[in-house]
Amino acid sequence: MFCIYICESKQFFMYYTLITLHSVFRWLVLLSLIYTIFRASIGYFGGAKFTKTDNTIRHWTATIAHIQLLIGMILYTQSPIIKYFWNDFKQASTSLDTVFFGLIHLILMLIAIVILTIGSALAKRQETDEQKFRTMLVWFSIALLLIFVAIPWPFSPLANRPLLRTF
Ligand code: HEM
Repeated sequence: MFCIYICESKQFFMYYTLITLHSVFRWLVLLSLIYTIFRASIGYFGGAKFTKTDNTIRHWTATIAHIQLLIGMILYTQSPIIKYFWNDFKQASTSLDTVFFGLIHLILMLIAIVILTIGSALAKRQETDEQKFRTMLVWFSIALLLIFVAIPWPFSPLANRPLLRTF
């Protein structure tokens, strides 16, 4: 009995830590993407030079998204909602909230991060500064749009979670 209590509270602590991290990281992903897109549009439309800072920002924006992907994947293995979704698929499929986290969120976020990664790699390999900014502007904007749709905002018609979780 005591072991069950300890094990379960350990598991809950891990789950809650992951979901809190995942919730906070969403803001880093969004802010870094918006800032990169802003710089890319200024650079592209203003004919600016693609500096070392632009390259560092491109790199870190992709890295932050990859860290969020990793946290999301670990969270996927720990979440009670996901366990319920796969253990009782038929019953769980009747709830939009469960299907959202079991499939929709996962698929849209994976596609968004693949697009962001391709865009980042392509931008790096472009010849001119104008092409670098344009590549980043296009690919990162598509990724941002997908991420925005797949976030369970309090106002989302798909699933709702708080704007920020704290311990
Ligand atoms: C840019 C990528 C991503 C963003 C911005 C993002 C954002 C979020 C947000 C804001 C939540 C709600 C957190 C809360 O309840 O307070 C959430 C929940 C969740 N995310 Fe993500 N996510 C991303 C990628 C992923 C990926 C790739 C996976 C899986 C591989 C994933 C799995 C989950 C799971 C399992 C939950 C919550 C389940 C539960 O409530 O128990 N996420 N995500």
